[in-house]
Amino acid sequence: MDTFDFASWSQACLLRVEQALSDGVGVGAPAGLGEAMRYAVLDGGKRLRPLLVLAARQAVAAADGEASAGFDEAALRAACAVELIHAYSLVHDDMPCMDNDVLRRGKPTVHVQFGQAQALLAGDALQALAFELLAPEGAAVPELVQARLCRLLARAAGAQGMAGGQAIDLAHVGCGMTEDALRHMHRLKTGALLQASVLMGAHCGNAAPAALQALADYGAALGLAFQVVDDILDVTQDSATLGKTAGKDAEQGKPTYVSLLGLERAQAYARELLVQALAALDAAALPDTRALAALAQMVVNRSH
Ligand code: IPE
Ligand code: IPE
Ligand code: MG
Ligand code: MG
Ligand code: MG
Repeated sequence: MDTFDFASWSQACLLRVEQALSDGVGVGAPAGLGEAMRYAVLDGGKRLRPLLVLAARQAVAAADGEASAGFDEAALRAACAVELIHAYSLVHDDMPCMDNDVLRRGKPTVHVQFGQAQALLAGDALQALAFELLAPEGAAVPELVQARLCRLLARAAGAQGMAGGQAIDLAHVGCGMTEDALRHMHRLKTGALLQASVLMGAHCGNAAPAALQALADYGAALGLAFQVVDDILDVTQDSATLGKTAGKDAEQGKPTYVSLLGLERAQAYARELLVQALAALDAAALPDTRALAALAQMVVNRSH
């Protein structure tokens, strides 16, 4: 097999995703809402979740051995949809009633720029747009695939996923947490959407149940690793590198892997989760998981 050029692969994916987002977000929204939506989504972010969708699609497409336009269309829509849910979660996470942050993706947060009411509504509208994107009219995406993608995303975004995890987070400011409880919170508030990204891509194809389960295991390990590393970066990096305010977790008394285990053990745990993610990928026994492997490395070795 040719050596895999991750930089070229991700650049090509990002071009498609950025174009689709730019074409679809906030267009025609009234009373300044579109501007707030576009500000929240465009020009920033690592786009990790869209890349996971497209990498998982690539892994199962190789197993299919056939080009399928419907699945490719579905995967691009899923990539954008999950990024919209993520962007909405950031807008709300930054609001004064939650983490009260003023800097995001190197810019003033949405509520600082547009006011709290517009930030709330931009989040609401981005969430709705995500599901609209997954369910296009016409025959571009088979309806069974549309329904599956909506179900996966809804579950990951809701009470059993991101929103539930955020509720646990806010309920534990200033409190200690056991390691089991912290792991559960991280799996919900961040891991669920990352795992759903992998599964949405994997459902844009005909992967066997065993491969889907292995990809679910990969997504779970990677999703947890992501938030462990987010906790680490909050103490090891500065605000300019992160594009968001560093040192906020300790300042706000958030339970994190660093506060629970200390920096070195948190770093060791992130490396252990990377090993688990890569082992699950091997177990999937799909012919082309190179992009998924590179993304797992990126999650754990990133600096922002
Ligand atoms: C930050 O996510 C919020 C968490 C879920 C920890 P990212 O680090 O993926 O943020 P962007 O999209 O690159 O800005
Ligand atoms: C946020 O976790 C997770 C979300 C669901 C947005 P954090 O509160 O740690 O994210 P950052 O550090 O502000 O990006
Ligand atoms: Mg938060
Ligand atoms: Mg936050
Ligand atoms: Mg954080």
